[in-house]
Amino acid sequence: MISPSLLAANFANLESEMEWFNKSCADWLHIDVMDGVFVPNISFGFPVLKHVARICQKPLDVHLMIVQPEKFVNEVKALGAYLMNVHYEACTHLHRVVWQIHEAGMKAGVTLNPATPVSVLEDIAADVDLILLMSVNPGFGGQKFIPRTLDKVRELRELLARTGSKALIEVDGGVNLETGRQARDAGVDVLVAGSYVFSAPDPTRACEELAAL
Ligand code: DX5
Ligand code: ZN
Repeated sequence: MISPSLLAANFANLESEMEWFNKSCADWLHIDVMDGVFVPNISFGFPVLKHVARICQKPLDVHLMIVQPEKFVNEVKALGAYLMNVHYEACTHLHRVVWQIHEAGMKAGVTLNPATPVSVLEDIAADVDLILLMSVNPGFGGQKFIPRTLDKVRELRELLARTGSKALIEVDGGVNLETGRQARDAGVDVLVAGSYVFSAPDPTRACEELAAL
């Protein structure tokens, strides 16, 4: 599956971006919310996303790079989001947050930074619908894919099998045709791609190429 990241879109013309996007083969729209605290950057917030959600016809894959994400379960729900991703590193009571997301009627995703080992998921994997492995340090688009992520994907596959988890594996950051193929081969289910898709001369085609890997 493919989840193009809104972060790389032309914010001055989101309506025309959503025009091609809605007709494309993309499965989800990946939405990166940043707070300038958990990550050293600020992207966009709910007043903007409300309008994006209105014109986007695909399921929203919301990636919260913020502290205390549990405070925003209702806001994410109000967008009509399909999936709410929270960072492991941002949640002291991760199990509680995951169940708050489920109780709000959304799929729950847990995200790991590059330096966080997959082993921390042992006791939560069976409760979540998706694990997002960051393949760059979160905060910015256009960075280089960290190759160690591929080993983490393989380790995560084993952990999911061992814990009986049916969670999907998603990677985010530096995905292009080459790293996307490596990630697919390692066992990734969902590829997030920002600049590779939105900066392409033909974004629809870029989605198709990634989807065909
Ligand atoms: C990074 C974000 C990513 C970003 C990916 O903090 O979580 O979703 O948009 O952008 P690219 O694909 O350009 O690395
Ligand atoms: Zn993201």
